[in-house]
Amino acid sequence: MKDLIIKELVEHKGTFISGQEISKKYHITRANVWKYIHKLKEEGYQIDSVTNKGYRLVSMPDRLDMAYLEFDEGWRIGKEYLFFEEIDSTNAYAKKIASQKPSGTIVLAENQTKGKGRLGREWSSSYGSGIWMSMILKPDIVPTDAVLLTQVTAAAVVKGLNEVLNCDAKIKWPNDILLEKKKVCGILTELSGEIESVNYIVVGIGINVNQNPEDFPQEIEDKATSLKKFTGVDVSRKAIIKAILKYMNYYYSQFLKNHSLEGIVEVCREFSATLEKEVKVIENGNEIFGKAVGLTDRGALVVEDNKGIRHEIISGEASVRGMYQYVD
Ligand code: BTN
Repeated sequence: MKDLIIKELVEHKGTFISGQEISKKYHITRANVWKYIHKLKEEGYQIDSVTNKGYRLVSMPDRLDMAYLEFDEGWRIGKEYLFFEEIDSTNAYAKKIASQKPSGTIVLAENQTKGKGRLGREWSSSYGSGIWMSMILKPDIVPTDAVLLTQVTAAAVVKGLNEVLNCDAKIKWPNDILLEKKKVCGILTELSGEIESVNYIVVGIGINVNQNPEDFPQEIEDKATSLKKFTGVDVSRKAIIKAILKYMNYYYSQFLKNHSLEGIVEVCREFSATLEKEVKVIENGNEIFGKAVGLTDRGALVVEDNKGIRHEIISGEASVRGMYQYVD
């Protein structure tokens, strides 16, 4: 019921809705309506209550539950979403429910107790300070094309962040987003499939939004940043999610139509933090040093080593000289 009342208030944003109207619509007493409003105020909602007029929403706390995120109707990603105050990992949960949920379902949480990073690393995801979100996708593609979805997502994140904050976010190939040379977002793509077909893909996005520098664990404090550190003020997670999903829906549809990164890889090139830089790439345990000279149409990084040999790397771990990891 609380979510429905929030929804009513949101839909009447800027105007009053009477207690009587809500009570009639949801078959509850006006005293009960008042009780819910009171509870919402305690949770941080600012609501004007005026006799003979009713209730008017002034502002909402930056929380991510159902009633808050107003997604566009035509979107295939975000049509259904599940919200948790606390969860072990949105990726782990998304994988658990993937077979019963439609493609495009989103899992969001305020807090992750066991956030997962790539290569078995931990992902620090404290309560309310970031965007911890996973998308369940069921594209009709071969498993080897699943890596392309990391590029689709990176393009959507970078475009969304740059649109809302007018910042200069960049993609560190293949799955990190950097702001002022520090990591602000990581993408974790996980797949379940057979040799020739995909059951589902879960793409997890972790974005540091409102952390202060001292909020990061010591081991990452000089490598990680947050959107708040860039803007100097609290950033609305809702606005960021909405912008990213707008681009994600657009690029994902392109990807399904073309079965390629046409129109997307150009974004990855334009906003690359890796291209034209000296890099170290680890692919299947082998280290390759050289200059990143290109990104193929399939999103593979082309590295030219000091003997002039070109290596095409489909997926791996890259560090860029002068940016947080690769210092020698
Ligand atoms: C990385 O850079 O190592 C990838 C980090 C991915 C973190 C996100 S947060 C939401 C989703 N749930 C997880 O447990 N991990 C991903």
